[in-house]
Amino acid sequence: MSYTIHKLFPTPVYHSTIPALDPITLHKLMNNEWVAPGYLGANRTHKESADRKILHRPELANLKKIVQKHIDFYVFDVLGVAPGLSWEISTSWVNQNSKGDFHDNHYHTNSMISGTLYLRVPDQSSSIFFHRDKGHENLWSTLLIEFEKDNEYNVASIGLAPNDFDILIFPSILAHSVTTNTNDEDRFSLAFNVWPRGTIGEGGNCELTL
Ligand SMILES: [Fe+2]
Repeated sequence: MSYTIHKLFPTPVYHSTIPALDPITLHKLMNNEWVAPGYLGANRTHKESADRKILHRPELANLKKIVQKHIDFYVFDVLGVAPGLSWEISTSWVNQNSKGDFHDNHYHTNSMISGTLYLRVPDQSSSIFFHRDKGHENLWSTLLIEFEKDNEYNVASIGLAPNDFDILIFPSILAHSVTTNTNDEDRFSLAFNVWPRGTIGEGGNCELTL
């Protein structure tokens, strides 16, 4: 049977890879003062760098430039956003997941676009899962239908298993979680939030400067 499925209003999760970082930069990123994050409530287990603007460090300027290049590609080329605003990294921090650590289901507030750069992902040290919003209305919002096979039209969560130096960029409002690290080695990732800066609707009655 010949047919076409029109995929309406998909959620864009960008997946790319950066060149491997040198050992000195990696060492700097993985040796931090660590704190337990406050926003995950009682279910938090992993640690985050106390520095929440780690990409603003002068010695990481080159890495910031690489990440910004991917953000700009996602915003302007993938999403088709018009030029005029700059999409800037507002916060950035390193996550350390030791054996048994996980990230509970959450999304990022005070941010429009978020992303993760994977610094070290030992085998079996966990995947990131993205979750369909509970309020997302689709065919399956009404009845708890059972499925014979999972596919992109019926699953409520989709997992990705990143490799070292993979970068993911996605809408901040998209809920996600990270499964438990079952490897003896620590897993390190660098997360970042992005906020647009500039003026929207210039000259109109809805002008807003961010
Ligand atoms: Fe997150």
